[in-house]
Amino acid sequence: MKIDAILTPAELPALARRDLRETLCVVFDVLRATSTFVTALHNGAKAIIPVSEISEALAFKNSEFGIRNSEFILLAGERDGVKIHAAQTGGTDFDLGNSPREFTPEKVRGRTIVSTTTNGTRALRACASAKSVLAGSFLNLAAAAEFIKQLQPTEVLLVCAGTRDEKADEDVLGAGALCELLARWDARPTFSESAEIAQHAWAQAKSDLAAAGSNATNARRLLAIPELRDDVAFCLPRDIFPLIAKMEADGAIRRQSER
Ligand code: MLT
Repeated sequence: MKIDAILTPAELPALARRDLRETLCVVFDVLRATSTFVTALHNGAKAIIPVSEISEALAFKNSEFGIRNSEFILLAGERDGVKIHAAQTGGTDFDLGNSPREFTPEKVRGRTIVSTTTNGTRALRACASAKSVLAGSFLNLAAAAEFIKQLQPTEVLLVCAGTRDEKADEDVLGAGALCELLARWDARPTFSESAEIAQHAWAQAKSDLAAAGSNATNARRLLAIPELRDDVAFCLPRDIFPLIAKMEADGAIRRQSER
């Protein structure tokens, strides 16, 4: 098994030209999309449908299925970190932003959530042709590693969603931490240079993830917004939601039953 990594969003367009039929992708958007999606599934959400544009989220909500099931569908997402609001949509306030702390059991249990975020949902959509796609975060890292060990795909591609056009350090650390878990495996996977870079970044930061995570650009942006600052501490703990969040062929991310 070969482990490769995409460290910046600039590399995402090339995925459309890459044969991913034997590849399992793990998308990291630690602050905050994939952490939020894992939290939502832990809290009972039926599915999360990542879309790239606000217009796609609105089109789903206003579709025949969406209208027929409107009480079970929530619109979620952010631009510039803040919940999408009526001025951005021509009149519709989204139900949720992209803070994992909003996705409580009371709000999300049994619901299908259509989400659009700046980078995370686009990175997930860019992997749609892969054999399997997982949402990765520190919150469910060990579960993701176990899933990979059981599936034993030919290739694992760790996709760091980044922030706007830049690399997000916290995503690279998540990818590096997953590499560390897979490196301990007796199947001795091989690592590409970019995966080695992620492993090295993790080795440098692992002794104090809270400090490394909080120094990242995305974290500093969130820490500067009073109602969002607690998201940083929420998204960094290891394995508090031991579940597999898998994007299926219909484009929806669902909790995979443990084998
Ligand atoms: C993203 O998708 O770029 C991030 O999740 C943005 C955010 O949550 O603020």
